[in-house]
Amino acid sequence: MASTPSNRSQSADQPPAEQASSYGRHVLHNDDAPQESIQESTPENHSTPRVAAARAQQLFKQYGEGDTAVIALDHVDVEFGKNQFTAIMGPSGSGKSTLMHTMAGLDAATSGDVFLGDTNLTGMKDKEITSLRRDRLGFIFQSFNLVPTLTAAENITLPSDIAGNTVDQEWFDEVTSRLGLANRLDHRPAELSGGQQQRVACARALVSRPEIIFGDEPTGNLDSNSSTEVLQILRTAVDEDNQTVVIVTHDARAASYADRVIFLADGRVVDEMYDPTMDKILQTMSGIEG
Ligand SMILES: Nc1ncnc2c1ncn2[C@@H]1O[C@H](COP(=O)(O)OP(=O)(O)OP(=O)(O)O)[C@@H](O)[C@H]1O
Ligand SMILES: [Mg+2]
Repeated sequence: MASTPSNRSQSADQPPAEQASSYGRHVLHNDDAPQESIQESTPENHSTPRVAAARAQQLFKQYGEGDTAVIALDHVDVEFGKNQFTAIMGPSGSGKSTLMHTMAGLDAATSGDVFLGDTNLTGMKDKEITSLRRDRLGFIFQSFNLVPTLTAAENITLPSDIAGNTVDQEWFDEVTSRLGLANRLDHRPAELSGGQQQRVACARALVSRPEIIFGDEPTGNLDSNSSTEVLQILRTAVDEDNQTVVIVTHDARAASYADRVIFLADGRVVDEMYDPTMDKILQTMSGIEG
């Protein structure tokens, strides 16, 4: 049987329990209570009322026209709670990247609205969206998007440098050392492994402590240890730094770090789950894919 967060510290590729438990409530929560006793949690009985950090209203995205038209998002209504870690799952082609890109202002929807906090992105000028993205969002792309001519360190601080913001050196050191990048900072992307490039992309999204971090399969190319580091650092961003994290993932273990999982199929939200466990996620996914 697949391992779950509650027994994950027993497997060889995981950090020791003491280390894992210092990373916020997800692990503590699962260590504290045996899985059977965790109550099914719903938005109604979830302890803290959540304010939306970002939300989509009737979001519709069509690619192409006529016979070749693809409806990537079919009138999606979704909210991502502030100070919450949400994972988006669903089969390949279900619209996960499209949803994330339109919500982060990287792509325009065909119709519908996207709000970041109270700000409606719909109809905003490109320039306004660019500065809003720079000031308030971090994005970890499915294909890292690193600048080949810059070193790892320069890539990480690029958004802050462009915005003219000072980088918090202590936080930079912590993020890069926890992601195992400390001795790769002077290297260019071509001199880094795929996993290292992905960790640079994660560090870049984290280092300016944006309001919301969107990650499109941020652990997709990582081995189990690096993947755990990235997930724990994202978990900490939510638990200790009041940030909001939304990731797309195909990996039930990664999704089990989230507070909530949203399931997409054919451009629609078909299910959601609070306090997910690997087993519950796998069950729901097999229902959707089956
Ligand atoms: N630029 C594009 N032009 C035409 N169709 C597109 C384009 N981008 C995405 N699509 C289509 O839209 C649908 C949703 O794509 P999307 O990339 O959002 O899926 P996904 O859920 O992220 O899949 P994956 O898990 O494979 O990354 C797919 O059918 C895809 O082929
Ligand atoms: Mg995708």
